[in-house]
Amino acid sequence: MSDPVPAMADRAADCAACLLEADSVVLASHIDADGLTSGAIAATALRRAGIPFETTFEKQLDADAIDRIAATDHDVALFTDFGSGQLDDIVPHEQAGAFTPVIADHHQPATAEEGEEAPETDRHLNPLLFDIDGASELSGAGATYVLARAMETDDVDNRDLAALAVVGAVGDMQDTDGGLIGANESLVAEGVEAGAIEEVTDISLYGRQTRPLPKLLEYASELRIPGISGDEQGSVRFLSGLDVDLKVDGDWRRWVDLSFEERQTVASALMRHAISRGVPPERVNGVTTTTYTLADEEVGTELRDVSEFSTVLNATARYERADVGLAVCLGYRDDALDEARRLLRTHRRNLSEGLEWIKNEGVEQADHLQWFDAGTRIRETIVGIIAGMALGADGVRRDQPIIAFAEENAEELKVSARGSGFLVRDGLDLSVVMSEASAAVDGGGGGHDVAAGATIPRKRRDEFVEHADRIIGDQLADED
Ligand code: C5P
Ligand code: C5P
Ligand code: C5P
Ligand code: ZN
Repeated sequence: MSDPVPAMADRAADCAACLLEADSVVLASHIDADGLTSGAIAATALRRAGIPFETTFEKQLDADAIDRIAATDHDVALFTDFGSGQLDDIVPHEQAGAFTPVIADHHQPATAEEGEEAPETDRHLNPLLFDIDGASELSGAGATYVLARAMETDDVDNRDLAALAVVGAVGDMQDTDGGLIGANESLVAEGVEAGAIEEVTDISLYGRQTRPLPKLLEYASELRIPGISGDEQGSVRFLSGLDVDLKVDGDWRRWVDLSFEERQTVASALMRHAISRGVPPERVNGVTTTTYTLADEEVGTELRDVSEFSTVLNATARYERADVGLAVCLGYRDDALDEARRLLRTHRRNLSEGLEWIKNEGVEQADHLQWFDAGTRIRETIVGIIAGMALGADGVRRDQPIIAFAEENAEELKVSARGSGFLVRDGLDLSVVMSEASAAVDGGGGGHDVAAGATIPRKRRDEFVEHADRIIGDQLADED
């Protein structure tokens, strides 16, 4: 069979061979949508290959977590959606014979200490090592999918797992430029061929499957259409003025309930409205995008649309219920899905309360960044999601990155940083900002150019902001 990402094929084959020869595997993954889907892809590939394994999810793959993994009696440790940034902690265990590591990740690998060589291991599958962008072209779930395809034996076909890989990519927001690009596109093509994914151009609003139309428009903060975004009455007025019957028995229909022609009518009216309110052309074009739906999921449910699916997963794993999210990914419904929906309601409420809090409190302004410290008001596991959603909201600039703090524990603060594709093209690399600024205050961090995070001693917050501000200033100045 052909390779989904040819540049990674040889390395994937080495990683797969190691797993197929293992007596048993400990599979460790990250607690977000991309991490859960990575874990589910790996678990399914291991099960299909008949290899015994145990699964564990970690918020951060720190030295303690790696020690715990090393203490299990499996001969191979498979790390998915993390591991690259923690090679300095993983490699010593490999050298001590605790386990053979296999890593399928897309984060920036740990860099060398001055005068030393960067730590490395043989079975390290990361798009960044093959000139593929780990922030926009392949996610952790994508890297794990490449591995799963390499693990196929005679009667196993893992291409159906492309569906989960796409959920992971979209969960890490790799589709923000109008659809998935690069290596991700090959995964989509395989999923479409396997009958697992449908790819269509559709309206680019979050909640096409489940939100009643007025809510769909009102919450469409990413489009920022005056008189509609964030405006419940405006949205109702706009919809009521259209020559389409958008209600059934007095209840608003959802986007999925509309026929193709009805969707076109609403989308064109929305674009005309946006133009008439002075929305610039590039944002008007953003009203439509390439969308991905999962062919096997029921229409009108949270699992049908990949971005709603990814929210369901964040709603579980970021609340210490990775078991529920994994079960949903593995196809369990009934109890697991009921529990996931309950968690989703809490997650949604937390997101909206967090955004409201920022709106009321405002953000602090430095020279090259803006920041806020939510203390205990926002859970540290979701403060990054909220920071990303806040960029461009009322009172938050879009032309500067945002750095968010939340309490991690009595001594430490969690930091989440978010930028935009636009700022990255101008030279911003938040992964470098987080790792250098945190190292300067005895913390640690990393991530991607457009989104990164760190943990720092809480007393050194202001010092950290100064370092970050200076580094960002340098990055954005260099490119002029
Ligand atoms: O673990 P890590 O890869 O999980 O997380 C990536 C994070 O970066 C996600 O929370 C995702 O929403 C965020 N991101 C973003 N904007 C992008 C790409 C990723 O906020 N353009
Ligand atoms: O994890 P990531 O940063 O990709 O999450 C983006 C979040 O934005 C999702 O959890 C989703 O709930 C939320 N969202 C939303 N309404 C929108 C856009 C995004 O609730 N219009
Ligand atoms: O937690 P948050 O969503 O803000 O994380 C953004 C990115 O930064 C993720 O890819 C995460 O893995 C990375 N990160 C990291 N080290 C930390 C915290 C976050 O590499 N201490
Ligand atoms: Zn990821």
